[in-house]
Order: sequence, then structure tokens, then C-alpha cells
Amino acid sequence: MSAALLTGTPLTGRVAVVSGASSGIGAATATRLAELGAKVAVLARRKDRLDALTEAVRAGGGTAIALPVDVTDREAVQAAARQVADQLGPADLVFNNAGVQLVSPITDLRQDDWQRQIDLNVTGVMNVIGAFVPHLTAAAEAGKPADLITTSSIAATRILEKFSVYSGTKAYISQLTRLLRVELGRKNVRVATIEPGMVDTELPDHVTDPDATKLMADLIDRIDVLQSADIAETVAFMAAVPRHVNLTEITILPTAQAI
Ligand SMILES: NC(=O)c1ccc[n+]([C@@H]2O[C@H](COP(=O)([O-])OP(=O)(O)OC[C@H]3O[C@@H](n4cnc5c(N)ncnc54)[C@H](OP(=O)(O)O)[C@@H]3O)[C@@H](O)[C@H]2O)c1
Repeated sequence: MSAALLTGTPLTGRVAVVSGASSGIGAATATRLAELGAKVAVLARRKDRLDALTEAVRAGGGTAIALPVDVTDREAVQAAARQVADQLGPADLVFNNAGVQLVSPITDLRQDDWQRQIDLNVTGVMNVIGAFVPHLTAAAEAGKPADLITTSSIAATRILEKFSVYSGTKAYISQLTRLLRVELGRKNVRVATIEPGMVDTELPDHVTDPDATKLMADLIDRIDVLQSADIAETVAFMAAVPRHVNLTEITILPTAQAI
């Protein structure tokens, strides 16, 4: 059954920015937001993937621009935000989604992996927020809907062995969402986070711990896990509801996933 439940083009007039859009959840969401009428700017490091995505959107009659950027580079993200403003206008829908999961036992002391997760899942997320909050507040002030939606994880709240650093970064994102709402909600910017369970993407491919890789691969084999399109539809719905409605913390699990 298709994940696509929204009909028509309810996001016409919206300017969306999606980070981590070269694969998985980000790619599916950027594509779906464009189908639903938004102009989209896609951010990630793999330029060839972004070019293919934007070409497909344009072939379908939509508007999309590729902005190859490493979101851990604050200056580069600021430059990307200026390009969005120049080419599409201020962003009013920011899907702050790029993230990496490198689970391992803490006693293995894989400090480079700890740092990569902190650099991307915390600093990268903050760089995107720093670059685009001015866009969002300007859009809200102009009377448009404005959305800051970040990708957290069920790891933010569940106790998953060996996930300590990843879970810590996602707990940061979930708590950040609650706090940002206090300030930005008053300015009519909706702040939300989506906390998925297992989604079938490239994410586990980066994990170097064999037990953790097996755990995720087994889950994908055993149960009907989520697909990126399921997350894309949910994010689109969060953005399509009326401006005074803020779906703020959405946990989304495969029905058969126990944890
Ligand atoms: N899959 C799951 O089960 C699951 C569950 C809960 C939460 N999540 C979260 O969902 C988000 C998306 O992950 P995914 O599952 O779709 O995995 P994915 O396919 O590996 O996507 C990760 C994306 O982040 C981008 N990225 C990585 N490093 C980057 C950097 N330095 N600068 C810019 N972009 C960067 C990657 O593109 P480039 O390599 O081209 O830069 C890619 O587009 C992550 O935040 C993840 O933690 C996933």
C-alpha cells in the first residue's frame, strides 16, 4: 500500500529546505514535499545524488535546487542559506534531518565515531538552525506557515545497549525541540521533531560494530519496518496542517517493532 495519503498540492507557495537529502528519509521527504507543491532546496555532501534528485523534481514540473554542503561547516551552511534566499526566497519549512548513527560499546573507546556523531547530530543541526531561523521568523512575520522539523529517533528515549552517544545526540534534539517551541512558537514558528523507529535506509551501513549491524539487519528481515516514504508523508502532513496547529513530537514505529 502506498504511503502517499495527501492529495493535491497543499504545500504550494512553501519554500522547503531538507538536509541529508541525498538518501533515505531526506531524499524521500524532499521528493514528496516537491510533489505536494513546495519549492525545495536539498543539502548533503554527495552532489551527484542531489543533482539526480533535483533533475527528477524538475522533470515532474517542480522546482528544486541542489546545494552540496557539509552541514558541520557553519560558514558553508550560512552560504547555502543565502543561496536559498536569493534563488527561492526565505525558507518557511526546514527539515533538519542529516544524521549519522555509529553504535559501539563505550569500552571500545571509538572516540572518532563519538565525535562524528556529535559533530553532525548536534553541531550540524545547530548550524542549520542558526542559518535558517531568520528565514523562518521572517516567513512567520509575513503571515506564512513556518516549520522547523528535526529528525530525532526513538533512541532519544529508549534504553538501547551500545547506542549511548547516538542516543545522547538524539535526546539533545528532542529536548531542544521542547525548549525552542517556547521561544519560536510565540513568533508563530512551529517547532517539531519526529522520532522514528527502524526505517529501511543506508543508516545501518555506516555502523562498524558487527553485533549492532546484525541487530538492525535482523529486524529489517524479521518485521515489516518503516520505509522512508512513511516518514516523508508524516513530515508533509505536519507541514500541511493549519498554521495554528503544531504537531510537535511524533513517535513513529513499525507496528511490529517491540522497543
Ligand atoms: N533509519 C532509521 O532507522 C532511523 C531511525 C531514527 C532516526 N533516523 C534519523 O534519520 C535521519 C536520516 O537518516 P537515514 O535513515 O535517512 O540515513 P541515511 O540514508 O544514511 O541518510 C543520512 C543523510 O545525512 C547526510 N549527511 C551525512 N553527513 C553529512 C554532513 N556532514 N553534511 C551534510 N549531510 C550529511 C547523508 O548524505 P551525504 O553522505 O551525501 O552527505 C544522507 O543524505 C538521521 O538523522 C537519522 O539519525 C533514522
